[in-house]
Amino acid sequence: MKETLDRSAFRRSIPILAARVLPAQTGLMLKAEAMKRSIMNLPKVRSVVSDPADSNDRLVLLRVQHEADLSPEARTYLEHQNAVLTTYTLELDYDYWTADEILQAILPENLLEGSPTGFAITGHLAHLNLNDEYLPYKYIIGQVVLDKNKRIRTVVNKLNSIDTQFRFFKMELIAGEPNFIVEHHESDCRFTFDFSKVYWNSRLHTEHERLVQQFDPTDVVADVFAGVGPFAVPAAKKGCAVLANDLNPESYKWLVGDLVRASCEDGREFIRKVALGALDNPFPPYTGPKATRSQLKEKRRQQQGPPIASSTFEVTAAATSTTPSNTLQPPSRSRISHFVMNLPDSAITFLDAFRGIFNGEREKQLYLDAPMPMVHCHCFTRELEPELAKKDITERVQDRMGLGRALGGVEEDAVSLHLVRSVAPNKDMYCISFRLPREVAFEAVEA
Ligand SMILES: C[S@@+](CC[C@H](N)C(=O)[O-])C[C@H]1O[C@@H](n2cnc3c(N)ncnc32)[C@H](O)[C@@H]1O
Repeated sequence: MKETLDRSAFRRSIPILAARVLPAQTGLMLKAEAMKRSIMNLPKVRSVVSDPADSNDRLVLLRVQHEADLSPEARTYLEHQNAVLTTYTLELDYDYWTADEILQAILPENLLEGSPTGFAITGHLAHLNLNDEYLPYKYIIGQVVLDKNKRIRTVVNKLNSIDTQFRFFKMELIAGEPNFIVEHHESDCRFTFDFSKVYWNSRLHTEHERLVQQFDPTDVVADVFAGVGPFAVPAAKKGCAVLANDLNPESYKWLVGDLVRASCEDGREFIRKVALGALDNPFPPYTGPKATRSQLKEKRRQQQGPPIASSTFEVTAAATSTTPSNTLQPPSRSRISHFVMNLPDSAITFLDAFRGIFNGEREKQLYLDAPMPMVHCHCFTRELEPELAKKDITERVQDRMGLGRALGGVEEDAVSLHLVRSVAPNKDMYCISFRLPREVAFEAVEA
């Protein structure tokens, strides 16, 4: 195992030629057509430096070591400017080289083809997925990633095993602080969680946004497999009342938010109890978008300042939302409009839990004449043709709910299927969205 990185090995002293000129001449010289191909143009290296021999002069660094290597146009231009040619030593060190250049210099020849420096970032933490052949160099690779990315303080390598129940990756620290509690931003929300103990996948962020867009701010949303809340928290930020559940106590711990009611139980239990729970303990009514900080500040300023005729400024819904109207109060919220089920490996197998969920007297009263909730259920399929994927998924959903007919029948919206991403060459992740069939939710099932 190669464990230490010798940064001093990356020092280079390169003798070059430089043109000594007055400070006032440098601007024009840098722009001169004749000098275009002759001036030093390296990333992170300044083309003009103070002359170490006389700080009143400047040295314009040239890309050549000998005068004979200058182009004829450059030589003529320098002569006209009365520039004096002199030697200069360019000092490059570890900071100059890119991560790839450093690893190219360290790794053996047979490993130079691939790029082990690819990584994803969550908060301050970079996670790599190193192939076995790079493992003897993992600490050096980690150190280079750490050195070359200012935002990163911790570097981990994902191990090949995933926690089968809670779906998070096992990982090992390869550089930096052993601090796995990250603060990550997605959909204008801040998430704090222990990356080594919960599921998080930044590649799902468009899927999170896609579903949250479908929610109305007045909706009650039940997230059966909520994780640390990438659907739940943005939905609550929008105004939705959210019931967020996750069996992993570590996810539950971080599930917070004004309108997020968290629970930590098996998804099946959660589905069975959630409707009654929301009836027993309704959410406050939706009172309009929350005022932004600047709107609140402006409102306070107006309240404190001299009286202004009310017609001279506009009162927005947002600005009024902090003082709920005492005349027409919207109803409190207890009817669920959406179920979210992102546990693609097995979410479909939980669908039988919906059988008879609205059978109780109070649930019947609430849901019998109201629209049924939408169910958004994530799943995998090995059918890569869209039509075959749809057939495979809808059949599994119907079977699991004991539905004796095709999903999306009379009076129901069409079933929609959304391809979330391809997870392997022969495996796609989908989200199937459908309205919970009445005969399933009101089915008389034995307790
Ligand atoms: C694929 S993750 C999705 C998390 C989050 N919704 C997201 O989109 O990133 C699935 C989550 O389900 C939780 N989980 C696994 N089995 C569960 C069960 N039987 N009941 C409830 N939650 C479960 C895991 O802990 C994990 O956080």
